[in-house]
Amino acid sequence: MSDIADEPAPMREPVLSLRGISKHFGAVSALTDIDLDVHAGEVVALVGDNGAGKSTLVKILAGAHQPSSGTIAFQGRQVTLPDPSAALRLGIATVFQDLALCENLDVVANIFLGRELSPVRLDEVSMEIRAWTLLNELSARIPSVREPVASLSGGQRQTVAIARSLLLEPQVILLDEPTAALGVAQTAEVLNLIERVRDRGLGVVMISHNMEDVRAVADRIVVLRLGRNNGIFTPDASNQELVSAITGASDNSVSRRAGRRSAVAGRNPEAHP
Ligand SMILES: Nc1ncnc2c1ncn2[C@@H]1O[C@H](COP(=O)(O)OP(=O)(O)O)[C@@H](O)[C@H]1O
Ligand SMILES: [Mg+2]
Repeated sequence: MSDIADEPAPMREPVLSLRGISKHFGAVSALTDIDLDVHAGEVVALVGDNGAGKSTLVKILAGAHQPSSGTIAFQGRQVTLPDPSAALRLGIATVFQDLALCENLDVVANIFLGRELSPVRLDEVSMEIRAWTLLNELSARIPSVREPVASLSGGQRQTVAIARSLLLEPQVILLDEPTAALGVAQTAEVLNLIERVRDRGLGVVMISHNMEDVRAVADRIVVLRLGRNNGIFTPDASNQELVSAITGASDNSVSRRAGRRSAVAGRNPEAHP
């Protein structure tokens, strides 16, 4: 009997893979030598103190900033993301903290705000059906898609922004602080939504300051500190471990040593570089 059958199935290659990404703003080093992998069907939480470089990293992936050095591979192919529409066309969607919804427009109109990029033009009725179907698939709690966004709760707005970003069927979605400023019930709703997005097979990168939210939904937790990788954790990591990595309180400990190595291979023991 061959023992090949007993071997674990090889892990699929990451949908998005960053190697050695650095970003300088003049004399400021916002990011230094960042490695990051995102697989289909996983939620990667990006955590770190203010100024750690989280937003800069997301903006690079969104095509809003250009890296000073390093490479980005998407579905195994090295790519450049010269502008946000290039990232979108490739399949990387971003929901920035400012959701950029139009208050006076209804849910359908907001979901289709980016439709000029879509290959298929739809009439009003088809758009309404598509919006309704999408929200339904996401089990979103939005009573009417003809409701103006102004009348929605914070959680519902986040839901509409996420639904809009799914319209172009991206492979990766980047969420900058999706639960910031939300109450307990609405946070639970949005975390639920993130799980459904992951279950659709997308790779999700979520920035968050809330360790409880992060642990509830993330498959991996990536810590940035002063623009560098400072550890990768599983969701069962203790608050103390995470806070140490975030603040650098234990720079001589495991989290520090785990950092750069595991950024490449640590979470994926089957992978060969
Ligand atoms: N456009 C910019 N120009 C100059 N410095 C910037 C710019 N954007 C970010 N930075 C700097 O880069 C570092 C990382 O910032 P940022 O990515 O916003 O961190 P985070 O999102 O983790 O709080 C900070 O020192 C910040 O001041
Ligand atoms: Mg930020």
